[in-house]
Amino acid sequence: MLVTGREILQDAHKNNYAVGAFNVNNMEIVQAIIEAAEETNSPVILQASQGGLKYAGVEYIAGLGKIAAYNAKVPVALHLDHGTDFDQVMLCIRHGFTSVMIDGSRFELDENIAITKKVIEVAHAVGVSVEAELGKIGGTEDHITVDERDVTFTDPEEAKRFVEETNVDYLAIAVGTAHGLYKGEPKLDFDRIKTIKEITGIPLVLHGSSGVPEESIKKAVSLGINKINIDTDLRVAFAAAIKDFLKENPDNIDPRKILGPAKYAMKEAVMEKMHLFGSVGRA
Ligand code: G3H
Ligand code: ZN
Repeated sequence: MLVTGREILQDAHKNNYAVGAFNVNNMEIVQAIIEAAEETNSPVILQASQGGLKYAGVEYIAGLGKIAAYNAKVPVALHLDHGTDFDQVMLCIRHGFTSVMIDGSRFELDENIAITKKVIEVAHAVGVSVEAELGKIGGTEDHITVDERDVTFTDPEEAKRFVEETNVDYLAIAVGTAHGLYKGEPKLDFDRIKTIKEITGIPLVLHGSSGVPEESIKKAVSLGINKINIDTDLRVAFAAAIKDFLKENPDNIDPRKILGPAKYAMKEAVMEKMHLFGSVGRA
C-alpha cells in the first residue's frame, strides 16, 4: 500500500532498524524492489533523483511508483530524492509523491532552514513527509556533485536548531559517506551519528550507502540511522547481469530476455540490503 515516508520511518525510529530507499528509473527496477520487499515482508521507499526524473519524466516515475505501491502487499513510500528547488518539490507532490527531500545543503544554515520551512508548510498541509540535508555529503549523485574539499560533516548543534526550527520529518546527515563508487573504504563518524540522534530525536538518513562495509551499516543503524539510500549497488548488479547475459547470448535481441536477469539480480541485491538493514518482517 502507498504510505508516507513518515509512517515507515517513525516505526523504524521507534524500533531501531532501517528501511532501504532505492533509486528507480524504469519499470524493471521498480518491479525488482517491490518483489524483494514482498518476499521479505519489508517496508520500502522508492525514490527518484534528478537524473531519474530527467530520464523517465515525473509522470512515468509517479505512475510506476503509485501503481507498484497500490498493488504491493507491504508499505511503500514514493520519495523525491535530492529535490533542489521549491517548484520541483511541488511538482512531485502534485503527482502523488508521499515523501520529498528538499536538499538545501548547498546553502548557508539560515537559507537551508528557510527553504526547508517553506516546503514543509505546504507538504505537511497535504500530508506529505519531508527530508532535508544538513552538512555536505561528497561524491556525485546524477547531476549533483560535492567535491571532496567541500565535504562538511553535520554539526550536531546546528542539527538541533535545524530540527527545532523546521519540524522536518527526517534528516540526511554528512558523517563520512559519499555518493557513487568509493575509491577507498569510507570511515563513518559513529560518535557524530550517536550525538545527532540523541540531540534531535528524529529518524536519520544515510546517503551514499553503496559500498559501505556491512559492519559499518549495522553500527550506523544501531546508533539511529533509519533510512538508507542505495543507488550505485543496484546499478552495479544491473550492469553485471546484462553484460553476463549478452556474453552468453550475443544474438539475443529481446529486451525482455535481456532485462529479465538484470531485474532478478537487482531483486537479490535489494533483499540482501533489507536483511542487513533489519527491515525484514517489519511490514
Ligand atoms: O541519494 C541517493 C543515494 O545517496 C545514493 O548513494 O551512490 O551510495 O548508492 P549511492
Ligand atoms: Zn543521496
